[in-house]
Amino acid sequence: MKPDTLLFEIAWEVCNQIGGIFTFIKSKVPTMTDTYGENYYLIGPYIPEKAKLDFRPIRELDYTPLSKAIQHIRDLGFEIHYGYWLLEEARPRVILINPNINIEKLNAAKTTLWEHHEISALKSSELLDQVLGFGEVTRLFLTKLIEELHINQDVIAHYHEWMSAASLPDLSRQQVRLATVFTTHATLLGRYLASNEAGYFSGIPTFNWAQKAEEYGIETEAKIERNVARHAHVLVTNSAWTASECEAFLGRRPDSIVHNGIHRKPGVGHEVFEKHLQNREKIDALIKALFSPSYQLRSDKTLYFFTSGRYEYFNKGFDVTLQAIARLNEALASRQSDINVVLFIITKKPFHNIKPDVLEARQRFQELQRICRKISTKLGPRIYANVTGSAGHKLPDLNQLIDDELQMLWRQALANFKRNGLPPVTTHHLIEKDSITEFCEDAGLNNREENRVKIIYHPDFIERATSLFSMDYLEFARGCHLGIFPSLYEPWGNAAMETVLHGTPVVTSDVSGFGRFAGEAADMAGNNEVKIVKRRQQSTEEAVIQLTEIFMQFVEEFENQQYIPRATLPKSVLDTLCWSELQQRYHENYKLALFRYQPVAGLY
Ligand code: GLC
Repeated sequence: MKPDTLLFEIAWEVCNQIGGIFTFIKSKVPTMTDTYGENYYLIGPYIPEKAKLDFRPIRELDYTPLSKAIQHIRDLGFEIHYGYWLLEEARPRVILINPNINIEKLNAAKTTLWEHHEISALKSSELLDQVLGFGEVTRLFLTKLIEELHINQDVIAHYHEWMSAASLPDLSRQQVRLATVFTTHATLLGRYLASNEAGYFSGIPTFNWAQKAEEYGIETEAKIERNVARHAHVLVTNSAWTASECEAFLGRRPDSIVHNGIHRKPGVGHEVFEKHLQNREKIDALIKALFSPSYQLRSDKTLYFFTSGRYEYFNKGFDVTLQAIARLNEALASRQSDINVVLFIITKKPFHNIKPDVLEARQRFQELQRICRKISTKLGPRIYANVTGSAGHKLPDLNQLIDDELQMLWRQALANFKRNGLPPVTTHHLIEKDSITEFCEDAGLNNREENRVKIIYHPDFIERATSLFSMDYLEFARGCHLGIFPSLYEPWGNAAMETVLHGTPVVTSDVSGFGRFAGEAADMAGNNEVKIVKRRQQSTEEAVIQLTEIFMQFVEEFENQQYIPRATLPKSVLDTLCWSELQQRYHENYKLALFRYQPVAGLY
């Protein structure tokens, strides 16, 4: 690759968290900026409420080709923003495009789609309109930029998932000087069929994609995805399952499979454990705030389990997790165990707001903590004075040392803190009930004191700035005891990978790319840190039974040995998961794309 080659990484989840592709991009960016420096840019959709969290605009445009292309797009009447994406470990430059374009321009894009690709977008949806709007502006932007560049400067556009890639086929048709790579992280039909068609995994090659797309009402979307895959110079995917989906549904065998990675290796054993303890304390504080007003939960007898991911109830295995957790609840109750398990469910659903009583409980708990600190600051010198005084070394009567004012404060804070009802299951006011809340209601998982399993359903992703936890997602994952990801459809599964790499044992499934990787990595096989639920050849009921057993075993080990299992993976496995190594595979794909777009140059 020539040193001045420009690289654009284009994804719908740039500055816009929806699911795993956000984590994927975020984890990769530091390596990308290290490798490609100033030549690296990202393009994503402009969603104002998301952008305000981590996007900082660059207001002054200069006379570079990039600035000219941005100005050109603005002159055409589109909204485009240029600035930095403020990530913890890197600040790459990003271009954000408002995907809501005016109706005439959108209709023109739809006409092109029909005339040149025979894809009808007559039956559209809000998302589809945005995908096409984003595609149209991306196309105009890249075309103008390339016009402005010197003829010898190469440009690579690396698209992720169909939603970001509607511009690709037209850029190729118009022979714009651009090498393209398309990574598909899943397929649309896969997402639909896996949870709806029995025996999906053994039957992938037998499905008629067009017929199924029609049946599920996703014809236009599936055709766009297929068209993008066909036109890209290089097609990449993240796991062997998705590779077979590409052949069956997209009509093209991928050029390579590059699995996902992490930015940096986690620390060594004791650091991992220290971090677990620090973060667990923060979770303890939230749990105390939510539960103590109703009854006490002992932290040393409580295990924190969690599941997380985009809200795909069956694909993410939320159904299996909930059924198994309900059975665990019964099993622990019938054994009269004194262990509590709190299951956190972290996903994203529309909500009005965080429940005021949840915020209030947290605030009152903080108030109680403040008073405790006040009492101990006052008490310290008094005890000390007593010890050094005439009473000698006898421990003084502590009640005598607390004056009326402190007693009052304490009683008041305590009275404010008490509540009559049960601790909330859902932390937010959801716009509407969903399968999670309904399941919990039906199964009696309502946070009664007698229940051994308590539920905290947090229908928003965890971010330090906006969440209840005052910590970021990875800190939260580190503070838990077990991550549960028994997915039915999971091409890779970043959540499971990140969790175990940060020291928390996980349950994943044999259809997830990471689950397969973990099963195959000889060093990890038989290891307790990654348990694998069979979803491929087991029924849902069988998977529930297996998961319940895994839970029981986990709780028993904790009960018997009182130790907190942490995960440390062998160096050989960690190495293969680091972007610093993995990125080289993408680099090879970039070279291949450049070669395919301009074989005669042959210099790559
Ligand atoms: C998709 C897949 C998920 C993967 C992620 C990032 O969301 O469903 O398994 O981890 O993309 O590649």
